[in-house]
Amino acid sequence: MRGGIFILSGAGLSAESGLRTFRAADGLWEDHRVEDVATPEAFVRDPAQVQRFYNMRRAQAALAEPNAAHRALARLQAEHDRPVHLVTQNVDDLLERAGAREVIHMHGALAGALCAACGSRWPAPAAMAVGDPCPSCGAARTRPDIVWFGEIPYHMDRIEEALEESDLFVAVGTSGTVYPAAGFGRMARALGIRTLELNLEASGARFDEQREGPASAVVPAWVAEVLGG
Ligand code: APR
Repeated sequence: MRGGIFILSGAGLSAESGLRTFRAADGLWEDHRVEDVATPEAFVRDPAQVQRFYNMRRAQAALAEPNAAHRALARLQAEHDRPVHLVTQNVDDLLERAGAREVIHMHGALAGALCAACGSRWPAPAAMAVGDPCPSCGAARTRPDIVWFGEIPYHMDRIEEALEESDLFVAVGTSGTVYPAAGFGRMARALGIRTLELNLEASGARFDEQREGPASAVVPAWVAEVLGG
């Protein structure tokens, strides 16, 4: 039986919490090259530079606070009588800190550490150092549990199941430029699911409805409408 709401979020959800987006004029990809900090090859070539980049982002995320949009999505999930699937491209934990549950981080999370040798996962330290030993196998190949360019996003089976059981797809604060997330809107339309974009400015992708404005304003307003107040 259909009836859930599938919400895909991107960096725009956390922008007003002070976390940089990627492709804006002041975006992360303006002063860091993806090939230097966000690929498996970069981690082999210069692991210290990669660890510095994610240590910096982990420290900024720790200082950030959830904004009204994070809180509104957590409220929707708690109060709605239908399943609300929170799928995010973001690696911060602001949705969790706003009270959201079972957030699906398809690009991994700054809070996670991963052993590149045995695949073990554990909570990341505030600052990860090159050569940190894996608590399971002892290998000195600890990396951020982040999905880098060229790697397979996480939880795709769960994500596809969630979309198939939803009757509304909402994209919040994402430019829709990175696949597979960029293809979820088209998948939703192919499934006959209504689509809505909540973004500071329209991303240019096709939606049945678009509402422009800062997430901290448009998301709580939309959630209040869905919950009837
Ligand atoms: N409120 C709502 N939306 C906003 C706000 C805001 N305050 N500020 C920016 N935005 C929107 C922008 O209009 C843009 O559509 O957020 C989006 C940010 O786009 P990107 O920087 O491309 O971020 P994102 O879509 O999350 O990128 C996807 O690309 O680099 C990879 O892995 C990285 O997960 C990331 C993926």
